[in-house]
Amino acid sequence: MNVLILGSGGREHALAWKIRKSSYLNNLYIAPGNAGTAMLGTNVPFSVTDFASMKEFSLSHDIDMIVVGPEDPLVQGVYDFFHDDEDICHIAVIGPSRDGAQLEGSKDFAKKFMFRNNIPTALYKTVTLDNIAEGNSFLNTLHAPYVLKADGLAAGKGVLIIEDLDTAKQKLKEILDGKFGTAGKKVVIEEFMSGIECSVFVLTDGTSYKILPVAKDYKRIGEGDTGLNTGGMGAVSPVPFADDEFMEKVRTRIVEPTVEGLKKENIDYKGFIFIGLINVQGEPKVIEYNVRMGDPESEVVIPLIKSDLLDLFISVTTETLDQKQLEIDNRCAATIMMVSGGYPEAYEKGKIITGLDTVTDSIVFHAGTSTLDGQVISSGGRVLSVTSYGNSIKEALETSYKNIEKIDFDKSYYRKDIGFDLQSDI
Ligand code: AMP
Ligand code: GLY
Repeated sequence: MNVLILGSGGREHALAWKIRKSSYLNNLYIAPGNAGTAMLGTNVPFSVTDFASMKEFSLSHDIDMIVVGPEDPLVQGVYDFFHDDEDICHIAVIGPSRDGAQLEGSKDFAKKFMFRNNIPTALYKTVTLDNIAEGNSFLNTLHAPYVLKADGLAAGKGVLIIEDLDTAKQKLKEILDGKFGTAGKKVVIEEFMSGIECSVFVLTDGTSYKILPVAKDYKRIGEGDTGLNTGGMGAVSPVPFADDEFMEKVRTRIVEPTVEGLKKENIDYKGFIFIGLINVQGEPKVIEYNVRMGDPESEVVIPLIKSDLLDLFISVTTETLDQKQLEIDNRCAATIMMVSGGYPEAYEKGKIITGLDTVTDSIVFHAGTSTLDGQVISSGGRVLSVTSYGNSIKEALETSYKNIEKIDFDKSYYRKDIGFDLQSDI
């Protein structure tokens, strides 16, 4: 098979690393890719939302399957673009249709979907400028802190958690007035849920599903989960509190009704569902859906999959996933993200990265890198993700920390406390 992966981060490097091992693979292309993916396949320089170039490239290079990394192309309808065009409808797209992608593209859609399908989640109310008074009344019924979410995609910055009621009302008005652009024309106000979070990944063919290893990511820039939110500074898998009892609740109360709901509502969905969960005193509740794999969660979840990933993807497209076994590595995995100094605010790029060839027992997934004159340089905020296996999470973390010290670039930074909150369990 000839496969095209869309995206350029650590998630896409991890997908490329795994797909490269498949016995079904012939040629592998990544658009636009990074210096890491270039070692596994051919990078092609078009953007993930340039559907016209994608079509032309897919036809000229005999692509059989497109694996979509990030959400933007999905929300913009890349699945439908291929599915509805008779010249390219033979090319399988791993990812949901535009309707399915609304689970991530619209928080209001996702909340309505969960309520229609009795999936446990926070109470909410959606408001626009026209019914802001109702929003303020709803806020009056809640207890601090207050959760406000811009409805549309806001690059991970659309959620505000506010301690005081008056500020929450003021921020609600600001978002509706355009603080987050059109993403905030609608705002979802939510009840605050208190607990520890984890990320559950499901691969579905629209009828059956497989639950992948559970992961926990560390979103804040600073140690002890302080400072600004980032795309993710590290991740571990599996998650000690997501034990069999908890996961059985997740399966029956959340995963099954989600897959059933999509089917019942005639939503075409052949891809990953990423369920952001919170454990509220042993009860799983959904914080959000994403319609793709997570990053950096992919850098621990994908290495723990022993089955041939392309084989699983093929069965997703033929709706025969139920006939496949999902084989999982019984070790643990941890990844530490090395970022540019200043990230997630302004940072410098173009720094030469040294020490990559001295890493022995970790896998270095590239997140924001490119090559210049034969050297690997930084080209993004999140630069490298150093993943290791271990017989415990602690052991996996120790190996990643040992190896990340060998890598360097000017002003690089990483958190030294990934997994800190799990110390008693690992
Ligand atoms: P989201 O973009 O929906 O994942 O929200 C970003 C982060 O905000 C989540 O990972 C949670 O840490 C937090 N969050 C969102 N909604 C809630 C909620 N209802 N209660 C508590 N925390 C929340
Ligand atoms: N790590 C969270 C995400 O991928 O959205």
